[in-house]
Amino acid sequence: MQAKIVLYKKVADDVLAMLQQDYQVIQFDGIDAGNRAAFVAQLKDAVGLIGASLKIDGEILDQAPQLKAISTISVGVDQFDPADLRRRGIALLNTPDVLTETTADTGFALILAAARRVVEMADYVRQGRWTHSIGENCFGTDVHGKTLGIIGMGRIGGAIARRAALGFGMQVLYNNRKPDPAAEAAYAARFTPLGQLLQDADFVCITVPLTPQTRGMIGKAELAMMRSSAILVNISRGSIIDETALIEALQSGRLGGAGLDVFEREPLPADSPLLRLPNAVALPHIGSATHETRKRMAICAAQNLLDALSGKPTPNLANRA
Ligand code: 8YV
Repeated sequence: MQAKIVLYKKVADDVLAMLQQDYQVIQFDGIDAGNRAAFVAQLKDAVGLIGASLKIDGEILDQAPQLKAISTISVGVDQFDPADLRRRGIALLNTPDVLTETTADTGFALILAAARRVVEMADYVRQGRWTHSIGENCFGTDVHGKTLGIIGMGRIGGAIARRAALGFGMQVLYNNRKPDPAAEAAYAARFTPLGQLLQDADFVCITVPLTPQTRGMIGKAELAMMRSSAILVNISRGSIIDETALIEALQSGRLGGAGLDVFEREPLPADSPLLRLPNAVALPHIGSATHETRKRMAICAAQNLLDALSGKPTPNLANRA
């Protein structure tokens, strides 16, 4: 009798075949109120779990007494309690490197889209309002040569810094738990206290993971430190920003604009004030969402799980002591 793996996100057939070589695989194409009970029931004798975009809490884990490893098809692990998983003897694996460049591309897409009002101007054309040579009412702001503040100089923050410094001639400030000499050498990035970064940056990009320490780190006070012309970009997790305070800052003109791929609630409710603000660009959490990268992530996550279950070294262990 093959040991069981539960898969809760749809993956390509060849990735599924990787798992099915040595395991019985029970598949779900996402979990919702309609199939949650069936999903939990399948966990009772599962040794492995793989998927994404679902909070896996103690209530679920209590129903999975034989679980040895969880492999998330994501770099973020805020859907889990890594310490609790460690206590339960469950390895947590993630997919850090394979999505770095794609997610950094999304970050720069938002910087450019917000600065040059790309969405607003595309709508302007689509709505037939381009009836004469444009005027100042269609102008945006430059990105090249400006100052970018990066909050979180990890893999994705470093890739953003490379684009900014080497691609757009930007001055790079960064705030991080510790200095990053490599980024300073490669991109002339300057380690800067958060308050100073917020005051000095024309653009601020958030690339820290969501943790108890970073939750709400950009609140009303921090937003008030930013320049009224500044643009805030978030490609990490929505709960790092106080979204109500952000909306107020954008509505009042105390903040120039925002480029957001993540939100406190996802999907973003259709009645969110953010969707009525011309200076807010909202994307549906597409950070890593390219065909190539999501395939690489799924392969990486499947291999992570197979390695963890067979006792092989797992470089992508996300809940080390
Ligand atoms: C997706 C992400 O949310 O990797 C992450 O942490 O936020 C994105 O890549 C994830 O892949 C789940 O679909």
